[in-house]
Amino acid sequence: MTARSSRPVGVRISGTGMAVPPRKVSNDDLAKIVDTSDEWIRPRTGIVTRHLSDDDQLTSDLAAQAVKQAVDNAGLKPTDLDLLVCATMTPDMICPATACRVVEKIGAVPCGAMDVNLACTGLVAGLSIAANFISSGAFKNVAVIGADRLSKIVNWEDRKTCVLFGDAAGAMIISASDNPQQQCLFQKLNSDGGMGEALYVPRSERDIPEGGHEGFNGKYDTLQMNGREVYKFAVNALKECVHEALEHTGLSHDDIKMVIPHQSNIRMLTTAWKKMGFPDDKIYINIDRFGNTSAASIGLCMHELTEQGRLKEGDHVIFVAQGGGLTWGASLWRL
Ligand SMILES: CC(C)(COP(=O)(O)OP(=O)(O)OC[C@H]1O[C@@H](n2cnc3c(N)ncnc32)[C@H](O)[C@@H]1OP(=O)(O)O)[C@@H](O)C(=O)NCCC(=O)NCCS
Repeated sequence: MTARSSRPVGVRISGTGMAVPPRKVSNDDLAKIVDTSDEWIRPRTGIVTRHLSDDDQLTSDLAAQAVKQAVDNAGLKPTDLDLLVCATMTPDMICPATACRVVEKIGAVPCGAMDVNLACTGLVAGLSIAANFISSGAFKNVAVIGADRLSKIVNWEDRKTCVLFGDAAGAMIISASDNPQQQCLFQKLNSDGGMGEALYVPRSERDIPEGGHEGFNGKYDTLQMNGREVYKFAVNALKECVHEALEHTGLSHDDIKMVIPHQSNIRMLTTAWKKMGFPDDKIYINIDRFGNTSAASIGLCMHELTEQGRLKEGDHVIFVAQGGGLTWGASLWRL
C-alpha cells in the first residue's frame, strides 16, 4: 500500500472481533488425559474451560475470522486496510508470515503484512506499531490481531503446562480519527532475554541452557515453563508497567475506566491489581472461559467489553501484558 501524506489528528480503536474454535474443553475433560483435576486447576489458575482447535484449524483461520468481524464492526472493507499485524508465536509456517496468509484469506491483497513474535505481549506491541503508523500520518487503517494455538506446542503429557492454555484470535482495527483527543497516550515495550528460559520452546539440546534445565518436560519443540519464576516476574512487571503509564500521563486510578490485562492466571492478576490499587471491577477477566490464549487474550477482552457496551468515547483504558522472551509492556489509550 502507498503511504498517505495527510496528517491524522487522532487515533482510535474503530472495530473489534474475536474467534475461538468450537471445541470447548473442561477441566474434567483434561483430567481424562493427564493426572489433574478441576479442584487443582480452578483455584490456582481461574480456568474452568478453554477452546482447543483441531489440526485443520490454522492460526491464520482463527485470525481471519476475528479480523473479518473487526473490519465489519469498523464499517470498513478489507481493502481499506493499509497494514495487517499478526501477533503470534504459533504461525502456520515460518514463511510466509501468517499475516500474509490472513491478508489473502480476507481479500485484502495487497495490504501490508507483518508478524510479531513476542508471545503473550505480542498484541500490545502490535497496538503500538499501529498507533505509530496512524499518528505519523502514514496509514489510515491498521488491523492488529493476536492469534495463537498453544495447544499445538504444549506437551500433552506435561500437566504443569497443558492445562493452562486455550486457542483463539482477537482483533482490533486502529484508525485515524478527526477527534484529536482520541490517542494512544502511553506505550512501553520491555524485554529481558536473560530470563528467556523461564518460558521457552527449545528445538534441540543446543537450546538448553548450560548446566541443563531442571524441570525440562522431556520433549523438544514444546513449551517449557518455570511457573513460579514467571509468576513472580509477572506480578512485578504488571505493577511497574501500569504505574509507569499513570505516572507518564498524569492520570489517576479514578481516571482509568478499565485495565485490560493479558489473561495469564487469576491468582497472579489478583495479586498484581491489589498491589496496583485498582478495585476488582476495573480489571477485565475472562480467563475462566478461555484459559490463557497468549497473544489473543487482550483482543478477546476488548471485543467482549465493546460488545457489552461498557466502553465509550473519552474513556481511558490500559492494555498490559507479559510473556515469553521474557517480555512485558503496556499502552494507555483515550478511546
Ligand atoms: C502454573 C502454576 C499455576 C503452578 O502452580 P504452583 O503452585 O507453582 O505449582 P508447582 O508447579 O510448584 O507444582 C505444585 C504441585 O502441583 C503439581 N501439579 C502441577 N500441575 C498440576 C496439574 N495440572 N494438576 C495437578 N497437579 C499439578 C506439581 O506436580 C507439584 O506436585 P508435587 O508437589 O507433588 O511435586 C503457577 O506457577 C503459575 O500460575 N505460574 C504462572 C504461569 C503463567 O502464567 N504462565 C504464562 C505467562 S504468560
